[in-house]
This record gives sequence, structure tokens and C-alpha cells, in this order.
Amino acid sequence: ERQTATAAIQRVYRGTFIHSTQRKVVEVLEDALLGVDTQGKISFIGSGQDLSQLSQTFGFSPCVVTELKEHEFFMPGMVDTHIHASQYSYAGTALDMPLLQWLNTYTFPVESGFGDMEFAKKVYTQLVKRTLRNGTTTACYFATIHTDASLLLAQIANDFGQRALVGKVCMDRNNSVKHYKETTHESQEETNRFIAEFFARKYPLVKPVVTPRFAPSCTGALLGQLGAIAKNNHLHIQSHISENPEEVKLVKELFPDSESYTDVYHKYNLLTDMTVMAHGCYLSDKELELFRQTGASLSHCPNSNISLCSGLLDVRNVLNHKVKLGLGTDVAGGYSASMLDAVRRTLDTSKVLTIQDPDHKTLNFEEVFMLATLGGSQALSLDDQTGNFEVGKDFDALRVNVAAPGAPIDLFQNDGPKVLLERFLNLGDDRNIVEVFVAGRSVLPLAESAR
Ligand code: GUN
Ligand code: FE
Repeated sequence: ERQTATAAIQRVYRGTFIHSTQRKVVEVLEDALLGVDTQGKISFIGSGQDLSQLSQTFGFSPCVVTELKEHEFFMPGMVDTHIHASQYSYAGTALDMPLLQWLNTYTFPVESGFGDMEFAKKVYTQLVKRTLRNGTTTACYFATIHTDASLLLAQIANDFGQRALVGKVCMDRNNSVKHYKETTHESQEETNRFIAEFFARKYPLVKPVVTPRFAPSCTGALLGQLGAIAKNNHLHIQSHISENPEEVKLVKELFPDSESYTDVYHKYNLLTDMTVMAHGCYLSDKELELFRQTGASLSHCPNSNISLCSGLLDVRNVLNHKVKLGLGTDVAGGYSASMLDAVRRTLDTSKVLTIQDPDHKTLNFEEVFMLATLGGSQALSLDDQTGNFEVGKDFDALRVNVAAPGAPIDLFQNDGPKVLLERFLNLGDDRNIVEVFVAGRSVLPLAESAR
């Protein structure tokens, strides 16, 4: 039983709550009560609390209590630590090439179209709705090099009530598409404009993230400038690292003075405790040690790693090195925008590693649940606000009905809450997610007018 005195209670939920804590990968609270205050923060949570005493302590009336139904539970919203909003239009196609060819053939031509604000609006609106529907309450987005369309993505996330980090992509070299590249100076200036206009809008839940695409797309001069911008404004940073063997080789050639791929980013002050790097399949133990020392985190994108035949990240090894790690869909290298897919592909990848080496300690669903929720929040340095149901955090939550009509799960016996969670993670889809909350606000289902 935990409680604290905060702002007035807006809503109280009664039922089963499942989340991860620092001490327990999965904690189940049955017949529990959770109070959300008018700021959207959790003011109390616990099993076996006395409702009438709570209502006296917190001064709320019994009519603010909502009871969960049978087969329903609350879990924290999922955190997609790496997703390219600008690639959603071709998700589910174009998966027949390795990374560098794939970028030149499919990705850059599509991304270059985001100078068209109407196209940007259409794609970004559909993706934000899609990810929310699939239970992504926090997303860390790549947009494109276009500042205005990137600001539009931030606005759309804000308008739908999703928590997000949004990055205007920076790239000043090595691009097959003629008009999809900036000069070093433009990239720096536009990043500054992006940040200034972003902060002028005062979004409560959406923040800018400094986004060098990856080392092969950026000169050392640009990487240095972006490192300085992030430092001076205390901003998040995102990029890609060590995804594919050809890319790793290219970075060695482009940055001959750096000891490793990780060292390139480190040298330009891009590895901080607010950095998230996607992939990391080929990082050495020494590089992982540098991640741990700097507090930088990794985004594991298993669908993409397999779809582009990039590699298999050994998540167990990353966790053994005490490096923070979350999961990412990496649309459209990953073909699914759903974090449930990222959960399943994470388990698959770990099992493939066990097939290859029976001594590999396979990840279990409890651990992967934690990576999809609290782990993602930690990887994005947002765990002081979100990631689980600790008192004082924002209420970012999914109301899951394992037996929702039309959903792909059939129940036969009286499964306990942990089994219901396991079945939802392995078999469920958006039809099982009956309501989505971000900072205490119900953001889904959408009002008829917004569908
Ligand atoms: N590396 C640089 N850009 C990209 C991208 O758009 N997708 C993936 N998967 N890897 C990248
Ligand atoms: Fe990516």
C-alpha cells in the first residue's frame, strides 16, 4: 500500500494492475485501487485498501470509482523507443535489401517527399492514430530533414495526446537522392530553428530530440555541432549504431581516427544519459562499457534487424553490461508499427540465439514486458514521469480486455492475471486494448469526430 497527498482526485480505478518495478520484473496487484489526480498523476495504488478510508483521506466521492470487468487489467502504456514516422507509408513492403541499399532505393526517395505538408499530415496523422491504438503511449520519432513537417508531427502527437520525442533528421553527406540532403550549415541552423519553434509551442508531453541520422550520413563537423546543441539545451539525442556489417565497415573508413563506431559518437558529445541509439547488433563489450559509463541507452528493433537481415542483438549481453535498453518497431525497416510485435520478435530473436547456443539464457516474457514498458521509459530518460504505476508518476496505461469480443484470444480455464498477460502479449492485438490513457487522460477510443 502506497499513498501520498497530492492534487484532487479525478478518477479511481478498481481491479487488477500489472507493471514492472525496479525490484520486480512483474508485479501483480489484484483487487487494487489506483487514484489519478487532476494533473493526471497517480496519487495512490494498492491492494486491500479500504475505499471509504481512502475517500476520506483524499476527499473524493464514490462516484469517481470505475470498476474493471472480468478478464480486464491495467498495464503501463508501451514505449516505442525508435520509429520513423516518415516511413509509415511503405510499411510492409520493400524488405528485400540490406540496409545501405534499402536506404538509397526506398527510404530516401520517400522521405524526400515530406516537403509536401499535405502528404506529411496524412502520413503522420495515420501513424499517430495507429500507434496509439496499438498501445504506444510514448514514441520516440524520426521525422525527415524538413523542419516544418517535423514540427507538424510534434503538433499531431500533441493533439492526439501521445507522449513523444520528435526529431528533425540531420544529414549532410552520402545520399543518393539529390535534393534530400542539407549543407552542414543548413542542418545546424534548421536544428536550432526546430528547437526554438518547438519550445515556443509549450507542448506538455512532446519534446524535441537532436537527430543525426547516423554517422555515415553526417560529417564530423555536423556531429560536433549537434553534440554542442544538445549539450547547451540539455536535449535528448537519437541515432543509429552498428546495425549492419557493411555500415560498420563504412564508418571505419569514414572515421579512421576513431577507435570504434561508439567512439565516433562519444568524441562528438553525442553519448549522454539522454541518448538512445537504435540497433547496436555489432557492438563490442568494450563499446557496451562506454554506453554504461555515459548512461546512453540502446533501442532493440528486432523486426527490422530480421527484415533487413541486419543481425541478431544479444539483449542478454546488453543487460549483463548494465546498459539501459528499450524496444523499438523501427518502422519501416520493421514492418509492424505495433509494440506487441516488437515484444514477440524480441522473444523470437532470443530463442534463435538459444538455438544457436544452448547456453544462451533466453529472455522470458516477464523480462520483455518490462523492456516494452519501464525499460523503454528508462532508455528515454522519462522514467521519473512514466513507465509504471508508481505514486507520483503520470498515469500512462492500457486497459486490456483479454476476452474482448472479436479479439484473437479464446479463454478456456480460469487463468490468473500473469497468464492473461502472457496470452495478451503473445496473441493479442489492438482489439484487446479497450482504452488508452496518457497522463490520466483517455486518448482512446477517439471521439467520433476524430476517427
Ligand atoms: N540507419 C540510418 N537510417 C536508417 C533508417 O531509416 N532505418 C534504419 N533501420 N537504419 C537506418
Ligand atoms: Fe531506424
